[in-house]
Amino acid sequence: MSDKRIVSGMRPTGKLHLGHFHGVLANWRELQEEYECFFFAADWHSLTTEYDNTSGIRESTREMVLDWLAFGVDPSKCTVFLQSQVPQHAELNLILSMITPVSWLERNPTYKEMQENLEAKDLSTFGFLGYPVLMASDIIVYKATRVPVGHDQLPHLEITREIARRFNFLYRPVFPEPTALLTETPKVPGIDGRKMSKSYGNAIFLSETADETRKKIMAMVTDTQRVRRSDPGEPDRCVAFNLHRLYVPDDERNTIVEACRGAQIGCVDCKKILANHVVDTLAPFRARREELAAQPGLVDGILAEGKARAAAEAARTMAEVRDAIQL
Ligand code: TRP
Ligand code: SF4
Repeated sequence: MSDKRIVSGMRPTGKLHLGHFHGVLANWRELQEEYECFFFAADWHSLTTEYDNTSGIRESTREMVLDWLAFGVDPSKCTVFLQSQVPQHAELNLILSMITPVSWLERNPTYKEMQENLEAKDLSTFGFLGYPVLMASDIIVYKATRVPVGHDQLPHLEITREIARRFNFLYRPVFPEPTALLTETPKVPGIDGRKMSKSYGNAIFLSETADETRKKIMAMVTDTQRVRRSDPGEPDRCVAFNLHRLYVPDDERNTIVEACRGAQIGCVDCKKILANHVVDTLAPFRARREELAAQPGLVDGILAEGKARAAAEAARTMAEVRDAIQL
């Protein structure tokens, strides 16, 4: 077993946006150089909330994996697979569900929060309550030691650790207790200043055209206290400027800061400059994505290869698990 093994999953929500690129994906792309990584599309986890609307999951998975590949997640360096193609996750989920106290799941803050946020949907299901158990299975079936996640996933990871500990205590030590790999990610607000999210309609997608991106950037909120062109602006209050930080080279950006504070540049011109940089930076990824999308069977082939590697590893763990439980 590798002591530098990483597992991370993403629910297939379709096309990825800049928030994903500067967050999770930039992280994955670096980790694959250093660790043994298992990256997967968590389609069973999508079912926990989309059980009544499953028709888009397959297409969303394909779009998401294309974005991963275009962005540089490299199947020759890591294992890329689809959760539902590795049945060992489900077998371990069943076993872990036997030893997980319901109270651990009920007190999970994300559980209550999501039920309240998505109150239009009946989330009082067995599967939704068990979300963290399935996530624990995803992780420990590979005996992963590190899990790159955002802050929002920390409670889930804590449950994973508790479940692993409980298994080890009840039977025998089979699982390491994985720890979170938290990396600070830059702020990438959506064009309206709220968190970038597909469901808010404020996201910039890798798979959109350069023109679409330009339009969105020109519509971006700036410094709301700058009413007239002759008013001085403040980049630290400007929503668009968060993207300047990521896409405009230092020298040029410093010039913009001064020009903004001195009212020598207007927001329209300033966002035109930004849009040019964003579009130029994304151009190679977009070209690569189109190339990849045009190859029939590419994604399916990569997932099949990943499944073989993942399942071999997971099967080894499951043999130990059955043995530990004396089944
Ligand atoms: N719960 C994670 C999310 O919503 C996705 C996920 C499922 C995951 N299984 C995982 C992440 C295992 C890390 C490890 O983002
Ligand atoms: Fe933002 Fe640029 Fe306008 Fe200043 S000039 S408020 S940095 S868009």
